Amino acid sequence: MKAPFIPLNAPYSDTQRAWLSGFFAGMHSHMLHSAGSVNQADARILHILFGSQTGNSESLANDAAASAKSHGLRPIVKSMDEVEIGQLAKMEYLLIITSTYGEGAMPDNAEMLWEAASGSDAPRMENLKYSVLALGDTSYDLFCQAGIDWDKRLEELGGKRLFERVDCDVDFEAPAEKWISEVVPLMAEGAATVAVIDTENHAGKSTYNRKNPFPAKLSVNRILTALDSSKETRHYEISIAGSGLSYEAGDAMCVIPTNCPELVADILKALGCAGDEEEPVNGELMKLSEALRTQFEIKLPSKELLEELAKRSGDQELNALLSAGNKDKLNDYLWGRDTLDLLLQFPAVEFSAAEFLRLLKPLQHRAYSISSSGKKYPDSVHLTVASVRYQAHDRQHKGVCSTYLADLAGEGGEVKIFFTPNNNFRVPNDDSLPMIMVGPGTGIAPFRAFLQEREFRNASGKNWLFFGDRNAATDFIYRDEIEAMRASGLLTRLDLAFSRDQAEKIYVQDRMLEHGAELYAWLEQGGYFFVCGDAYRMAKDVDQALHDVVRLHGNKTVTQAVDYVNQLKKDKRYVRDVY
Ligand SMILES: Cc1cc2nc3c(=O)[nH]c(=O)nc-3n(C[C@H](O)[C@H](O)[C@H](O)COP(=O)(O)OP(=O)(O)OC[C@H]3O[C@@H](n4cnc5c(N)ncnc54)[C@H](O)[C@@H]3O)c2cc1C
Ligand SMILES: NC(=O)c1ccc[n+]([C@@H]2O[C@H](COP(=O)([O-])OP(=O)(O)OC[C@H]3O[C@@H](n4cnc5c(N)ncnc54)[C@H](OP(=O)(O)O)[C@@H]3O)[C@@H](O)[C@H]2O)c1
Ligand SMILES: Cc1cc2nc3c(=O)[nH]c(=O)nc-3n(C[C@H](O)[C@H](O)[C@H](O)COP(=O)(O)O)c2cc1C
Repeated sequence: MKAPFIPLNAPYSDTQRAWLSGFFAGMHSHMLHSAGSVNQADARILHILFGSQTGNSESLANDAAASAKSHGLRPIVKSMDEVEIGQLAKMEYLLIITSTYGEGAMPDNAEMLWEAASGSDAPRMENLKYSVLALGDTSYDLFCQAGIDWDKRLEELGGKRLFERVDCDVDFEAPAEKWISEVVPLMAEGAATVAVIDTENHAGKSTYNRKNPFPAKLSVNRILTALDSSKETRHYEISIAGSGLSYEAGDAMCVIPTNCPELVADILKALGCAGDEEEPVNGELMKLSEALRTQFEIKLPSKELLEELAKRSGDQELNALLSAGNKDKLNDYLWGRDTLDLLLQFPAVEFSAAEFLRLLKPLQHRAYSISSSGKKYPDSVHLTVASVRYQAHDRQHKGVCSTYLADLAGEGGEVKIFFTPNNNFRVPNDDSLPMIMVGPGTGIAPFRAFLQEREFRNASGKNWLFFGDRNAATDFIYRDEIEAMRASGLLTRLDLAFSRDQAEKIYVQDRMLEHGAELYAWLEQGGYFFVCGDAYRMAKDVDQALHDVVRLHGNKTVTQAVDYVNQLKKDKRYVRDVY
């Protein structure tokens, strides 16, 4: 039952004041009011744990907390790495909101709690009432696996599922909102509650977000790699002047692209459509060509399209690849193949315009780690983007968003953007602590921002950058800036690994191992260890190298090295921004 609201000017006792300020420490600036006959401390606690890599689950956890407060509950929002298994086992009402990363894996901040919860010695949780919201992306094989794993495990440990798990695709807002609106009243059922009036001051907060992106101006589009490089990496500056938006070093900015008109034309040709056919899209009639350009993912083939092509063509190879157990082979087959390649491969399969649109997914934004400090550049955002261009299946292919920025948006043109904060990936609050940054390729992006931030703050802490790319002569991006930082002393150490300048590959992790003793010493001095860039190969190898450094130079066993690295993660001194 909900307690009645009492007037804003109700008098508080000193104890109440102390309780209120304690309770709200670290939470949003809501104002809580006494609930008449219900003692504050009796209100039911709702724990909300999030597993999040790029902030989506974290922001939904805060939305759920706001809803919980309005239902008179006492929400406690925590990142999963702030909770021990023993604490989890004592919780009675729990919402878990988690994304999935890697290949069906937990986000970094959920890893350790999961390890404890999935172990054979995990405590029973008979008193637990819980529900799980899983975020993911259906283009990955193991869709929402982390959420599925939590849901199953909590039940195995004796927890009672109060509300069915909801799995959200990239368009997560509406299903997440629905889950919150349905699960929170269930969590509040039968509870003694505290009435809450939300008086958060929203003034000054920008209203731009994924659903309402800011139409920013692209002011700089400059190529960073040499013209004869084997790759193309560009520096962009995007003006946010007048938007009310602000950002922190470590945040990502998302760009909502449009598709390449030539690709749209080629797809229309393959479909045998003119493009001016009017089709219903999101409740409105739209020309097919415009719908393909602005509304749908037309490069990366959807699973639905693949399955329909397999069914209609009867093609043995494709049908075999889509059958269970052939995940890796299917991925190999799809690497570099786009929707147009598939349409051209099966010309006998015909789709009407409406049928084809039903098989496509909505066009999604792409995230980019911001490469500037918001303190140094409050009115603009810098990005460092590798343009995806490759030859395959007798055609030149282009990545949607990286080449939208490179070729289509144009300097002075409009680019729709919004921010996703990454609260774990931050320059340390303590300016005196060392920072170790590992960022090959575009992984350099947030570290350019971090170094600008440290310079701006006049921070005394040491800074060490591991950077690398293919060839020094063509791919040493931001070379002048980096060398100037080294010369000024802002960069205490710089270690470079150009992989293709010699016969054998040399990578950043080789440099880490070469300088392992010093690296370990920096960690022992309280240093932070940051990694950004490729998630699938580089980040895994760098993680292994970090364990090796700790083991070799800290004179530890393998298990002790794992514990040491886990402690770094727990202390948020080993954090990653990997993709
Ligand atoms: C949090 C986060 C931060 C990020 N930060 C950055 C950043 O700072 N800089 C940056 O450049 N990117 C960054 N990315 C990656 C970025 O979001 C996009 O994934 C990237 O720009 C590619 O998008 P696209 O639309 O151009 O390509 P898409 O249209 O998405 O095409 C990519 C696909 O093309 C195919 N492909 C790519 N290369 C090849 C090849 N050589 N051969 C065959 N097939 C190939 C693969 O199928 C691949 O999946 C980040 C991602 C995340 C999640
Ligand atoms: N998941 C994804 O879709 C994903 C992930 C990362 C990057 N990308 C995209 O790939 C493009 C280029 O990315 P990028 O410039 O950041 O990086 P990159 O070109 O992939 O690589 C940068 C450097 O890292 C090296 N490298 C390769 N394997 C490594 C490993 N196991 N350990 C350490 N270093 C390794 C590369 O060496 P060699 O090439 O010589 O081996 C190169 O010197 C971008 O479009 C980016 O968005 C996509
Ligand atoms: C590198 C990478 C790997 C991912 N792996 C998966 C996956 O295996 N399964 C899945 O369903 N979603 C996967 N996703 C999608 C994320 O779970 C999804 O974007 C989610 O909204 C992110 O939420 P967060 O910001 O709270 O981390 C992946 C995303 C990235 C960038």
